[in-house]
Amino acid sequence: MENKIVYLNGDYLPLNEAKVSVLDRGFLFGDGIYEVIPSYSGHLFHFEDHLQRLENSLDGIRLPNPHTREEWATILAPFLDAQLDQYIYLQVTRGVAFKRDHAFPEHVPATVFVMCSTIVPFTGLNQGVKAITMDDTRWKLCNIKAITLLGNILHRQSAVEQGCAEALLINEGYLVEGAASNVFAVIDGVLCTPPKSNEILPGITRDVILDLAKKNNITTSEDKIAFADAKRATELWVTSSTREIIPIVELDSVQIGDGTPGLVWHQMNDIFQTYKKSLL
Ligand code: PDD
Repeated sequence: MENKIVYLNGDYLPLNEAKVSVLDRGFLFGDGIYEVIPSYSGHLFHFEDHLQRLENSLDGIRLPNPHTREEWATILAPFLDAQLDQYIYLQVTRGVAFKRDHAFPEHVPATVFVMCSTIVPFTGLNQGVKAITMDDTRWKLCNIKAITLLGNILHRQSAVEQGCAEALLINEGYLVEGAASNVFAVIDGVLCTPPKSNEILPGITRDVILDLAKKNNITTSEDKIAFADAKRATELWVTSSTREIIPIVELDSVQIGDGTPGLVWHQMNDIFQTYKKSLL
C-alpha cells in the first residue's frame, strides 16, 4: 500500500502511522461529515463553496467547526501539487468519547482527518455509461454530507453488480440524485435538475454546471423531475467532483437518446473543461 502522507489532528504523518481510536464516534456511529474537493494543478476548485458546504454539514449535525476558513486553507496547503490533479478528502467526526452513548459527549475535541489521491480520469466517458434506478432507501437529511453512507453504498453496489456505473434514486415517483452524484436530464430541450432540498446533496459540480449553462444560453430548470419524464429524456447525466459530468446512455436496460453521449453533454463538457482551465 502506498504510504502517503495524511493529516490527522494537527500532524502530517505517513498513512500507516495515522491511527484513530476504536471509540471514535466516526467509527462507532458514523457520527461525522466529510468533503471531497478537487485540486487541479495545485488549485482547489471552488474552495469557498466546499468550505461553505462543510460549514452547513457541521451545522446540520450540530458539531462546531474545529477550524476557521484560514486554518482549513493552511491545513490543506501541503497536499497541493502543481504537477498533479488530485482529490482532497477531509473528514470531521465528533471525536473520541469514552462511554458509548448515542447522545453527544461533552468537551470532546473533533477528529480531523485529511488525505489526498491522484485523479484517475473516469473511463467510459466517451461512450457513456449504464445506470439503474432504485427506490431511494436513504434517510431524510441527504443535504448533509454525512460519513454515514450505508444507504448510498448499498445503492451503488447494486448498480455495480448489474454492470452499471450508477444507481439513480427515485423518491415518491421523482428522480432525486445518484448514489454518489447529482443528476441532470435534457427533457424537451431543457436542461433539468432536481431542486435543492433535504432529498439531495447540494453538489458543487451541479451549481457550477447550472451557472455555466445560464452563461452559455442553455435553458435550465430546477423543478422536480417525475420519473415518467426522466424516462423520456433525450440525455441523462450524473455529476460529481470525482467524475465530473458522465453521460448515461442506458437506463434500466433501455437506451437513452441514440445510445451515445448527447449534443448538450458534449457542449457542456467542453464548457466545463474550458472553465476549469480558466481558473488555473
Ligand atoms: N460524492 N450527491 C451525492 C449523494 C454525492 O455523494 C455526491 C458526491 C454528489 C455530488 O457532489 P459534488 O459535485 O459536490 O461532488 C451528489 C463525493 C464525490 C463522494 O462521496 O466521494
